[in-house]
Amino acid sequence: MFLSKVSLCLTLIFVLCSRNIEAQFNPNYASGRTTMVHLFEWKWDDIAVECENFLGPKGFGGVQVSPVNENVVAASRPWWERYQPISYLLTTRSGNEQQFADMVRRCNNVGVRIFVDVVFNHMTGDNVNARGTGGSTADPSNKSFPAVPYSNLDFHPTCSINNYNDKYEVRNCELVGLKDLDQSKSWVQDRVVDFLNHLISLGVAGFRVDAAKHMWPEDLEKIYNRVNNLSTTHGFDTGARPFIFQEVIDLGGEAVSKNEYTNLGVVTEFAHSNSIGKVFRGKDQLRWLINWGPQWGFLNSDRALIFVDNHDNQRGHGAGGADILNYKTSKQYKMASAFMLAHPFGITRVMSSFAFDNTDQGPPTTDGQNIASPIFNDDNSCSGGWVCEHRWRQIYNMVGFRNIVAGTAIQNWWDNGSNQIAFCRGSKGFVAFNGDSYDLNTSLQTCLPAGTYCDIISGVKSDSGCTGKRVEVGSDGRATISITQAEEDGTLAIHFESKL
Ligand SMILES: *[C@@H]1O[C@H](CO)[C@@H](O)[C@H](O)[C@H]1NC(C)=O
Ligand SMILES: *[C@@H]1O[C@H](CO)[C@@H](O)[C@H](O)[C@H]1NC(C)=O
Ligand SMILES: *[C@@H]1O[C@H](CO)[C@@H](O)[C@H](O)[C@H]1NC(C)=O
Ligand SMILES: *[C@@H]1O[C@H](CO)[C@@H](O)[C@H](O)[C@H]1NC(C)=O
Repeated sequence: MFLSKVSLCLTLIFVLCSRNIEAQFNPNYASGRTTMVHLFEWKWDDIAVECENFLGPKGFGGVQVSPVNENVVAASRPWWERYQPISYLLTTRSGNEQQFADMVRRCNNVGVRIFVDVVFNHMTGDNVNARGTGGSTADPSNKSFPAVPYSNLDFHPTCSINNYNDKYEVRNCELVGLKDLDQSKSWVQDRVVDFLNHLISLGVAGFRVDAAKHMWPEDLEKIYNRVNNLSTTHGFDTGARPFIFQEVIDLGGEAVSKNEYTNLGVVTEFAHSNSIGKVFRGKDQLRWLINWGPQWGFLNSDRALIFVDNHDNQRGHGAGGADILNYKTSKQYKMASAFMLAHPFGITRVMSSFAFDNTDQGPPTTDGQNIASPIFNDDNSCSGGWVCEHRWRQIYNMVGFRNIVAGTAIQNWWDNGSNQIAFCRGSKGFVAFNGDSYDLNTSLQTCLPAGTYCDIISGVKSDSGCTGKRVEVGSDGRATISITQAEEDGTLAIHFESKL
């Protein structure tokens, strides 16, 4: 039913409606930027500095931040406590409202947008004397959250989700026992709209909607339509709408489909994460990547928020299981990330993790409670329990590559019939991958002008030259491309700005 308004707009009065409808699919990136990073569990003060020192200069377009609203304080502080709200006060282990506002302003000032992970499918679950990170109390067993306030009138009756083939159960029952808000109630809609508008007034550019699969699309449509335009005082264009990307895990075979949400916003494409993991783990050949995109069962490019891993599936939560790559398998992970960033498909998100040994473990702390700041090493990498994949040269240089080749198509696809592939992005960039267990060393068309280029995977272009491999492109655009089996990286990438 919610589709009718959209299809009416699309067919009858396209011009009048299109701005409003198209707008929430636009990440509102500053010009020339194309990729966001999820700084999972980072503190607001640290993100502000990271925007200024690293993300802005390296061309990142935005940051997805962990949930900003008050969550339950759970025993031994697992990461998932942040997905168990107590109120919409902006106080968490990442910082308070003033620190959040300061971060948003400083990141916007250097061209980096902030996207908030918003959790309004549910509140926390049964918990005696539940206390929040902002000091609020709640009585979840009675569905009483006075700091919002919500009472038992605002929730669906208690039942548990067991059958994912029943969409009523998926959307009206409790996800792992979390008290399930009824988003059809006007009181609930008002509280959620107030929360989102508060964030917009502080300068955010959009929202990741947690557990969207567990909410009715027609309720989400009502909420989204009432959310304010982005703040012009924070530099957004008049009429700009918040970017909305919705968490809908759909690997097929369930009652709820990702296609139910694509008229409302962008959708997290878990099939992309699953398939790219399979390919770079060697369960599928790289040559099949030639038709990467909707032919693999993915959403259309402008509706798909794509990633190699996210905070759930990197630790085996959610879906995808053992096929999902993460930082622990670093060579394959960097190759998969490079492929995602080199390929024009989708709206890209890079994951930035803390190291973990068990799947519940929370972020590094100073004292078991307060989150520790990352420590930065001379080679850009992090320590102190933080992995910082976004600071790996092979990943941040490919974020730059994606910006530089934006708007060009794939051409001159080459493969060796198995796991060695290469392609150009217009006449702006070239990338090659060796996923075979033997060396790649052959002459390939790079589509670039003659000259010497610095491979941005094995090194960086510097004032004194190139710290990595050099590629000699001849007047015919061809170059000998070599990626040996024994090298640290299985990728080689050059672009017109890496010319020496
Ligand atoms: C909350 O529930 C308990 C029983 O679970 C009951 O004794 C108590 O009166 C309830 N409190 C309120 C405020 O409803
Ligand atoms: C957003 O901006 C457009 C264009 O200026 C305006 O027509 C619309 O009413 C605004 N929407 C909201 C929710 O403020
Ligand atoms: C590509 O794969 C074939 C086997 O299919 C192998 O013999 C060859 O050496 C590989 N490399 C190139 C550049 O063809
Ligand atoms: C690659 O092949 C060329 C000859 O075509 C040779 O000169 C060069 O040494 C080879 N490189 C590697 C790494 O095997």
